Order: sequence, then structure tokens, then C-alpha cells
Amino acid sequence: MEWGMANRMAQLIQSDGHALFLPVDHGYFQGPTRKLEEPHKTIEPLLPYADALFITRGVLRSSVDPAKTKPIILRVSGGTSMVGKDLANEGITTSMEETIRLNASAVGISIFVGSDYEKESLLNLSKLVNEGERYGIPVMAVTAVGKELEKRDARYLALACRIAAELGARVVKTYWCQNFEKVVSGCPVPVIMAGGPQVNTELEVFEFVHDGMQKGAIGVNLGRNIWQNNFPVAMIKGIRSIIHQNATPKEAQELFDSEKKGN
Ligand code: 5RP
Repeated sequence: MEWGMANRMAQLIQSDGHALFLPVDHGYFQGPTRKLEEPHKTIEPLLPYADALFITRGVLRSSVDPAKTKPIILRVSGGTSMVGKDLANEGITTSMEETIRLNASAVGISIFVGSDYEKESLLNLSKLVNEGERYGIPVMAVTAVGKELEKRDARYLALACRIAAELGARVVKTYWCQNFEKVVSGCPVPVIMAGGPQVNTELEVFEFVHDGMQKGAIGVNLGRNIWQNNFPVAMIKGIRSIIHQNATPKEAQELFDSEKKGN
């Protein structure tokens, strides 16, 4: 791996081999998502505990202080919305030139395997990888399911992750699922877990994050289950303890409870 690519990967994946990415990109197709209406208010208190931010260029420019930031993974796919015809019909929204100008450490793009736009999204990924490799910028592929959340099973996710890696993604972001080891073992590049919609209890989040880490994920890209929680800082600290301190779900819950009391 060339120096620039290796350096950017090291900005994202920490020296213990693990990573906690904080996604705040949801507005690019969902509009002002609950508790992300004013992005700087959501981002600022959480930033010290994140290893990188997953964000669009618009929110980066408007809501993140360039002198006080973390490595940036720029969301560069989009062009669709929750109220449009098909979320899968994304294009590339942001040029590599802009990525370099914004001093981003990586770019992220969704792929929609099995959708009507499978081919387009996979060719978008390939194009981005071709450009990213030219400039030493890693590409994170996001195995998106659009509104079809029931697609999140090991067979489908393993297929989507493997295809993303085959096309050259340096990191793949996917959902945790039962038998998650099948997803990780079939994917030759690091796998990061997304959270999906907020679940009922903090413990459920700690349990799936812990299970995924035990089964080979290197970390998380977890948004709503952190910043839609009533105690987002306590939540990110609990998750961080699993990712970087090998905490059990019970220990993460205890940390969450004590941080919550301190608030
Ligand atoms: C949205 C994304 C998000 O980055 C991803 O879904 C992670 O966020 P959450 O944990 O809220 O699902 O790709 O397009």
C-alpha cells in the first residue's frame, strides 16, 4: 500500500486495529432527521469520542469547525430522497477534487445489491475506487438496503460485502445480523457495522456491537443509536469501551448508567 493510502487508513483505523466512526450523513436523503436537525449541536459533544465523522460536504462546511475536527469520511453518493421513486438510484455527488480540497481521509458510497439499480451503484463504486486509488484515498462501501430493512440477513449481506470488496472498497460498512461471522469471513477487507433505526434499549445496542466485534468486525459506523439516545455522550462512551477497551455489554451498560447519572 502506498504511503498516502496507508496514512489515510491509519487515520481511520486506530493502532489497536479498531474504529468508531460517527455517521451524521442521514440528511442527504432523509432531510432533517430527528436529533440531527441542527448538525453542529449533535456533532460537537460527541466529536471527542469519535475516530472519524461520516458526513456530506454541505454539513461539513456548515457545521464542523475546520480547526477542531476528526478525520473525515466524505459521503459522496446521493441524488435520491425518502419521498422519491427509488432510493437505490444514486449517483456520485462529489468530485475527487473536492474531496482533496476538503482534506478528507476517505470517501463513502452506497451500493444497492439486488435492486433495480444494482449495476449503476456497483459501477459508481468501481469508478470511485479507480479515482480514489489514483490519489491515495480509501473508499468505504456502504451495503445499503433502502427501505427494505428485512434484507439484513447473513446470506444477503455476505454477498453484498464480498462484491464491494471485489470491486476495490478498502472498508465495507454493513449491518450486524445473526451469524455475522459468515459476513466477515467472506469479506477480505475490514468490516464496520452500521446501526440502523434506534432499537429499544441501550443493552441491545451494546450486545450487537459486542457480538459483531467478537465475530470479526473492526468497529462501528453507528449514528441514530447514539445521537437519538437521550444521553448521547453516555451512549458513545459505552460503545467506545466495547470497541477500544474490549468491554463486555454489561460493563458498557454500567459505564452508560454512571455517565447518565453524572449528567
Ligand atoms: C445513512 C448511512 C449511515 O451512515 C448509516 O446508516 C449509519 O447510521 P445509522 O447507525 O443511524 O444507521 O449510511 O445513509
